[in-house]
Amino acid sequence: MAIQISHRAKAIKPSPTLTVSALAKQMKADGIDVINFGVGEPDFNTPDYIKNEAHKAIDENFTRYTASAGIIELREAIAAKLKRDNNLDCNPNDILVSPGAKASIFFLLMTICDPRDEVLIPSPYWVSYTSQVEMVDAFPILLPTRAASNFKISAEQLEEALESLSNPKALILNSPNNPTGSVYNRKELEKIAAVCIKHNIMIISDEIYEKLIYDGKKHFSIASISDEVREHTVLINGVSKAYAMTGWRLGYAAGPADIIKRAARIQGHTTSCVNSITQKAAIVALNECDGSVAEMREEFQKRRNFLVDELNKIPNLKCRLPRGAFYAMPNISYYIHNNKLGIKNCVEMCEYILREYKVAIVPGSAFGADKYVRFSYATSMENIEEGLKRFKKGLIDSIS
Ligand SMILES: Cc1ncc(COP(=O)(O)O)c(C=O)c1O
Repeated sequence: MAIQISHRAKAIKPSPTLTVSALAKQMKADGIDVINFGVGEPDFNTPDYIKNEAHKAIDENFTRYTASAGIIELREAIAAKLKRDNNLDCNPNDILVSPGAKASIFFLLMTICDPRDEVLIPSPYWVSYTSQVEMVDAFPILLPTRAASNFKISAEQLEEALESLSNPKALILNSPNNPTGSVYNRKELEKIAAVCIKHNIMIISDEIYEKLIYDGKKHFSIASISDEVREHTVLINGVSKAYAMTGWRLGYAAGPADIIKRAARIQGHTTSCVNSITQKAAIVALNECDGSVAEMREEFQKRRNFLVDELNKIPNLKCRLPRGAFYAMPNISYYIHNNKLGIKNCVEMCEYILREYKVAIVPGSAFGADKYVRFSYATSMENIEEGLKRFKKGLIDSIS
């Protein structure tokens, strides 16, 4: 007889973004010419000054387990970065270095959530938030947003939602946002923070796309509003997106020392520590700068402008200009409702576009946005041009 799978494992669905990406990669490996807009990682190489440090770490045999929360020099480098970029005073005890921001968020949820606690998540949302909340037996509570409000929640909406909940524990705020590209400004964050403090809930501020904000705008961290807000906030960040280091696996959480200490214990019993070589490389990524982050940002901005302009030229399709991250999310509801192929939703539309036109995009339903699809522009301009041509033809053909 087969061993029973746990309720927890049964409830977890595969990550749709990874599924689309894997399918597109497989098609490519099979010799099919697929344009992949599904990826959630920069297409640039990790800069040389970072890679060189990893070579050095190996040559110097820096290859053993480290302190579970991360080597002290790295936590000092993160504290210095948080001061420099975010005006936050932290010391190494306030910082946990994890194998990716994803792991930081999970260990944090393990640390603060009891079964049946409620975690508020603005929707559209990054796919792993809801799954991770479910994995710790808490309830994800979605806060719907609208394109007209730039997919941002308001303090009033948060207040109203909190009043109807019995065990609210935390709000997960992600700015710049995946998938919408929205960026909250200081005023909006101040109002949201005030509500969180009033209701004594934790703010989990996922700032992984901090360095990818366009049009000359700068990131503002909610944790920097005041000491009181800082005590209610765990800031999440990492090196994956800013330094093109997704495969190296390093993220971090910065917040109240007691919470961080307990999260580090959980990490210690699960993954031990982050790869020692990656930790050394991350120190130079954070401390030094060869201009590559600015170059990548500039290139992403160029691609964003082109992609969004071209998407908006497609009849009956609307796409807001994303302010950060590297995703664009056009509304395709006209084509869902008017196609002649029996396509009923965005998943079927994405399947059709992939099958017939060899373009991989992620259905918005993966993020709680049924009328949308998500394009990642972390791919070359050449791919964007060709992929858009095919996507447009696919949509037009579907209604012809
Ligand atoms: C919003 C958001 N947070 C966190 C992560 C995870 O980053 P990491 O590679 O550091 O685990 C991602 C990756 O796609 C993301 O989009």
